[in-house]
Amino acid sequence: MREISVTASVRSLMDLLEQRTGQILSDGRMWRIEASLGPVLRARGFASLDALVDAIRNERGDALATEVVDALLNNETSFFRDPHIFEMIGRHLLPAAMERATVEGRGKTLRVWCAGCSSGQEAWSLAMLFLNGRTGWPEWKMEILATDISHSAIARARSGIVPQMEAQRGLPVSDMLRWMEPEGDHWRISPTLRDMVEFQVDNLFAPEAPRGTYDMILCRNVLLYFTAEKKQQLFAQLARHASPGGWLLLGAGETSIGLTADFSSCPEHRGAYRRSEAA
Ligand SMILES: C[S@@+](CC[C@H](N)C(=O)[O-])C[C@H]1O[C@@H](n2cnc3c(N)ncnc32)[C@H](O)[C@@H]1O
Repeated sequence: MREISVTASVRSLMDLLEQRTGQILSDGRMWRIEASLGPVLRARGFASLDALVDAIRNERGDALATEVVDALLNNETSFFRDPHIFEMIGRHLLPAAMERATVEGRGKTLRVWCAGCSSGQEAWSLAMLFLNGRTGWPEWKMEILATDISHSAIARARSGIVPQMEAQRGLPVSDMLRWMEPEGDHWRISPTLRDMVEFQVDNLFAPEAPRGTYDMILCRNVLLYFTAEKKQQLFAQLARHASPGGWLLLGAGETSIGLTADFSSCPEHRGAYRRSEAA
């Protein structure tokens, strides 16, 4: 792959991304700058990254900087990403959360936060999982708050429209037919699912959307590009919004071990972490 030289403009774009999102573009991911910003340069008629950076510096509002940050984010996602994790959630974590809420007399609604939800597939997967298991918990409801810093990802999620190619990634045909309606080349998420999920643009380092605490937080494949210090800040933030004994799900290759005492890994449920009781 061609090396990208770190010019003042490239450095300034990396700084913009880090200041806004906490994400670091390591040398190995520098190619993202040109690859991701090519469409922005073409659409806006800028001849070079230097011209783009000048325009960001001189703009009165924030629209161009927001568009550039959006373009630099990695929004990779799919339905039921890491299926064994969703299986564990359905079999063990949801029943345990219901049992706990019952013991604590908290009513029959589970509250979940998908933090860094991208274009919504993770939240829709969880909603489908919950509704598919309905016969096991007929009286329960689930409310999902799904947040991401990317305006374009949240706009796609809110539209409830999923392109055919994305619908095919990870979604069993039975779920596709049960929870989506065909619409031209796309699929439309059913109103039942849409009623369960609220999407918000929000920065994990200054979150405004979460209200109170959540029985389960999914923050998967978000931490990969944060420094250890940023990860610690993020765990402190997540801990504020996790109910005592609540679950935290991270992505494969992510861990809270060595970074926080607020969550501990669960030997019996690999990949799941639990908020300490002393919350
Ligand atoms: C690779 S996607 C993961 C999506 C989903 N959780 C999954 O595992 O499929 C990471 C998401 O984190 C979001 N993100 C990165 N930094 C963020 C921040 N500071 N606040 C909120 N979201 C952020 C990105 O916009 C992106 O959509």
